[in-house]
Amino acid sequence: MAEAKDLDSTERNATRFPKQTAFNLGDVVTGNAKVLSETEKERLEQQNKRMVTPFQAQKLEQEARKHWDLFYKRNENRFFKDRHWTTREFAELLSSESGPEASENVQETKQVDSVESKIMLEVGCGVGNLIFPLIEDGHRDYFIYACDLSPRAVDLVRQHNLYDERYMKAFPCDITTEEVFTTLSEGCLDIVTLIFVLSAIHPEKFRSVAGTIYRLLKPGGVLLFRDYGLYDMAQLRFKPGHKIAENFYMRQDGTRSYYFAEREVAELFQEVGFTVLVNSYIHRRTINPKENIDVPRIFVQGKFQKPNISNI
Ligand SMILES: C[S@@+](CC[C@H](N)C(=O)[O-])C[C@H]1O[C@@H](n2cnc3c(N)ncnc32)[C@H](O)[C@@H]1O
Repeated sequence: MAEAKDLDSTERNATRFPKQTAFNLGDVVTGNAKVLSETEKERLEQQNKRMVTPFQAQKLEQEARKHWDLFYKRNENRFFKDRHWTTREFAELLSSESGPEASENVQETKQVDSVESKIMLEVGCGVGNLIFPLIEDGHRDYFIYACDLSPRAVDLVRQHNLYDERYMKAFPCDITTEEVFTTLSEGCLDIVTLIFVLSAIHPEKFRSVAGTIYRLLKPGGVLLFRDYGLYDMAQLRFKPGHKIAENFYMRQDGTRSYYFAEREVAELFQEVGFTVLVNSYIHRRTINPKENIDVPRIFVQGKFQKPNISNI
């Protein structure tokens, strides 16, 4: 019953947020959550049969840094793929160019002085799968700050052959605390990217993270967001014993993952003051015929702008 009500309000909100263009053949860009089959509903029910205990959940929270650090010790830079798609889907990363959405949504409201050098922050940069492709593709539009909870990930970024302090600075930081303000001051950033990072954070801290990002941005600055969407296949695969809270799970290695509804992402950022430029689910099939892979993935992708002072 509760679920049906949620989906109803998702439907209602579907028209409320502007949608971005579909950039990949077969992408479905929508405000609608996946419709679950009976088997999938049953699988989600099964997950409730054995929840992570409150003690275990608290320990996971206290040891989040340790688990991510161990993740990077095991995987180094081999796990996440380089994200060469970012400048296509987030044209804002090219400050000198304007993609379709940059012109529709950002130019009219974003009045950052173009003479100043622009600054971006990649929150939860991991080993740099977003920032180094930008450099490789010749984009030096921004001075790039990159931070991560895992000191080991930050070391791997610093050891990368494209790491150059003339263009970037990587630093360890827990974005759920005030720590970031020891490196960056309020209102100093033009762009913040938050790509598959908020899902790794406890939902009770989402609002404070959103607030911190808001404080870091200049008026007119933009947050680029992508993360796991509600009922993504990875969510449906969790067995009993992994669920911590609604849509929040523990992986085998102790890292955690949340699965977002489109409207909750928009509401989260609106609540701290952002304007929604675009926000949607992206339903995508990841197909690799050679490896016989055909998996449906669901993301939520959005762009959120801190209003210009004159708009407040
Ligand atoms: C799924 S990985 C994504 C990494 C990278 N953004 C990418 O897309 O390849 C999540 C990242 O968030 C980082 N992270 C988790 N909690 C964090 C926190 N509280 N503050 C900063 N980074 C955090 C993790 O260390 C990890 O590198």
